[in-house]
Amino acid sequence: MQDTIDIAVTPNIGVRPLSLACGAEISGIDLSKPLSDDQVRVIKQAWNKHLVLVFRGQDLLQDDQLRFASYFGDLGIRKKAPEALRSRNEGTVQEANKDADKVLLVTNIKVDGKPIGAFGDGEFWFHIDSGYSARPYRYTFLYALELPSRGGNTMFSNMYKAYEAVPASLKERLKGKKALHIHEYNRAKQANSSGDISGIPHCFHPVFITHPDTGRKTLFVDRLMTTRIEGMSQEDSDAILGQLYEIGERREFIFEHEWKLGDFLMWDNRCTIHARTDFPKEERRLLRRCTVEGEPLYE
Ligand code: OGA
Ligand code: MN
Repeated sequence: MQDTIDIAVTPNIGVRPLSLACGAEISGIDLSKPLSDDQVRVIKQAWNKHLVLVFRGQDLLQDDQLRFASYFGDLGIRKKAPEALRSRNEGTVQEANKDADKVLLVTNIKVDGKPIGAFGDGEFWFHIDSGYSARPYRYTFLYALELPSRGGNTMFSNMYKAYEAVPASLKERLKGKKALHIHEYNRAKQANSSGDISGIPHCFHPVFITHPDTGRKTLFVDRLMTTRIEGMSQEDSDAILGQLYEIGERREFIFEHEWKLGDFLMWDNRCTIHARTDFPKEERRLLRRCTVEGEPLYE
């Protein structure tokens, strides 16, 4: 399987789909070098089509990663947890670094008993990055620096396909409805939105959004942080969200990436959800993450 988009202007770029769900491997580009407008345009076109792009064998300094990400918008600033909740975020102690606010180490590594990054060990349920904010990150970029001997795969689900699979009667019922997304800092346990949530980052977004670039409708809920649908009884909301999570996590919509050192992945948070499989706690895993800021989302 080989796409042939824009091959006339960028003859060396290969785009190879990685699953029937989503995901494509891009070859012929060295991300440690500045890219031409044509290269960026081809990548953007492939990204809108395949939702998750994989580049293998990259050798990237932090500056290279940030330069590349900035071709796609304003770099995301890391969202800090409110003071009272900070311990649940495992505290991110990162080395003095000129761009520390733009880079997050996704790792289980501790130095002197303190985590050097975020998201620790183990399984991570399907989620949208910063769905709880008014402007969820448009894109996330992740680069593998150290990997365990097995597990820790990242799975991506195609939420355009999920939207299409929602029964017509349910689409009708959810028209104009918004859902609550809340950051409660769990990784494998649903956020709790009962009680006073004024001190916890949260936001309502439409259950179905229109992707700002492609104009396609997509399902915008996740099992980890979406907790209720506005204007519905909790019982109805729970039942419907349960149904939507299941559709969003259907195996046929999922591409599962098995990491190799030097892999660089980039995904679109408006039309995918992602999750991580378990991996051995006693082994080290280190990835470098950055993001691009998003915008308000509409149905
Ligand atoms: C992330 C994330 C998954 C992983 O960085 O946003 O969800 O595989 N990472 O570590
Ligand atoms: Mn994530």
